Amino acid sequence: MANVTVAAIRERAPGERRVALVPEAVTLLHRAGIDVLVETGAGSGAWFADADYTDAGATVVAPEELYLRADVVLCVGPPDQETAGALRAGQTLIGLLEPLRQPALVQDLYRRGVHTVSLDLLPRTLSRAQSMDALTSQANVAGYKAALLAADSYDRFFPMLTTAAGTMRPAQVLVLGAGVAGLQAIATARRLGAVVSAYDVRPASRGEVESLGARFLDVQGPRGDSGQGGYARELTAEEQEAQRAALDAHIARSDVVITTAQVPGRRPPLLVSAAVLERMQSGAVVVDLGASDLGGNVEGSEPDKTQVLDNGVTVIGAGRLPSAMATAASTAYARNLVALLRHLVRDGELVLDPADEITGALMGGGPS
Ligand code: NAI
Repeated sequence: MANVTVAAIRERAPGERRVALVPEAVTLLHRAGIDVLVETGAGSGAWFADADYTDAGATVVAPEELYLRADVVLCVGPPDQETAGALRAGQTLIGLLEPLRQPALVQDLYRRGVHTVSLDLLPRTLSRAQSMDALTSQANVAGYKAALLAADSYDRFFPMLTTAAGTMRPAQVLVLGAGVAGLQAIATARRLGAVVSAYDVRPASRGEVESLGARFLDVQGPRGDSGQGGYARELTAEEQEAQRAALDAHIARSDVVITTAQVPGRRPPLLVSAAVLERMQSGAVVVDLGASDLGGNVEGSEPDKTQVLDNGVTVIGAGRLPSAMATAASTAYARNLVALLRHLVRDGELVLDPADEITGALMGGGPS
């Protein structure tokens, strides 16, 4: 019986340095009886050479051979048109395919008989799938990097420093949205010595915030903890207005604000208005992790763009932060894929069973 063959492609999105498999994952897949192909140069952005993959037991190949031989093609972000066009009926594509943001890709592959497994459809509440949760692993990297970006752009110290030149006060950091990325941003800013406070519309997050040594803001705002699957619900326009009014004073006196609020499948809630940006002190830094073409948590922020406003406030619209830490992000992502492939490959065969709780969710009702 032939083994299942999986293949990691080279990412082609501009600025994307991550790779779906790292050498340690190749070794683990081999042990599970899975053959691995890797496209030439696939790991170079994350500092993995072709020889590292070969040493781990993979075969490094050109794209033509890869698409010919692979049963399963592994990617990080959605593939470009050329890559998608190279896939053939019966093959399976696994990655963060963003089917909710750009459904045309998955629909087109579906029509052509290509199976798609979108890691971004994994419900976070499925505890037995936690090891496969790539959105979480990548959000962790992003939260960490967001705090470092903020510290790097802030022209004072994060910790309190007592030196011969006197005492420097610690930075006051406010994190809005205390999900995966927010909690990691809190933990990282705390490790750097900042005084951190945080706010989330789900009161249930208070315990997690406090366990990291941060203060949970008691604002008289709306509660949004009644959404589905443990996620927040989207606030109404009036509730969002009330929330902003309650938060404005806290934002205005913070040295650094990191925003990470989201409700999956919705536009990011606007938490920091242009009016409150004007009230912030010169030298303050705002990092908007949710900045995207759909807008962000901060009025006027744009992905991959740093703006210094007239009043000296820096607004950083985060781009692909996990890609900026490509080695760690790829390693975590590859571990998620290994866990998923161990689930999908049984007795040497790829089993795409829509009735299976995990597989069914990831295929999002696509072909089985
Ligand atoms: P998450 O779902 O774990 O956390 C989001 C948090 O926002 C939740 O705790 C939720 O209760 C809270 N929230 C929702 N509405 C709110 C409101 N009106 N006020 C305050 N809090 C509110 O999401 P995760 O994985 O932490 O991602 C956070 C954001 O970061 C998302 O927008 C995501 O797309 C983005 N992200 C950006 C990356 C980048 O490289 N720029 C990488 C990874 C994630």
